[in-house]
Amino acid sequence: MTGAKVRTLMLAVASAFAMFTIPSAVAQKDRPASFTKDESIYAELAKAPKKAVARRNPLESDPEAVAAGANLFDQHCAECHGDMAEGGRKAPSLLAGKVQESTPGTLFWILTNGVVRRGMPVWSKLPEPQRWQIVSYLKSLGPKEKAPQ
Ligand code: HEC
Repeated sequence: MTGAKVRTLMLAVASAFAMFTIPSAVAQKDRPASFTKDESIYAELAKAPKKAVARRNPLESDPEAVAAGANLFDQHCAECHGDMAEGGRKAPSLLAGKVQESTPGTLFWILTNGVVRRGMPVWSKLPEPQRWQIVSYLKSLGPKEKAPQ
């Protein structure tokens, strides 16, 4: 075999190899990053009606609300959003600025209505106090609000 033929053969083998390996490598890389690339994630939060946004958490100063909310989170939310709300394969992080900057009323509204067409279930079957406990827990994960001046 001449040197040129060997080179052609090696090239053919290499490109066949690339055809099989590259698409799967790309697919694997795309999966975990897909949430962060999707600009419309969290867009639903901006759709909460003003009245819902302004609603105060009635359990705001209940010292047990955060712990109760953490338990509920483990039961109902962690499988998609991750044990620490850091995000998982099925759902985005709830530590993200867009979520943490949302008012308690907005988060309550999201829980009540879900984003069903995008895979976030409705939680209206959980009694209201439980939904507020989850809101207390989510809020406890974020940066502390500045005291009003
Ligand atoms: C079956 C999987 C699943 C479960 C269980 C789940 N979520 Fe979600 N959640 C999602 C998905 C998917 C999104 C992203 C929706 C989107 O694209 O807007 C989401 C989005 C959110 C958002 C951001 C809203 C937005 O505009 O995207 C919040 C807040 C949230 N979830 C809270 C919770 C809480 C709290 C629980 C538990 C009571 C929970 N989720 C349970 C899948 C889930």
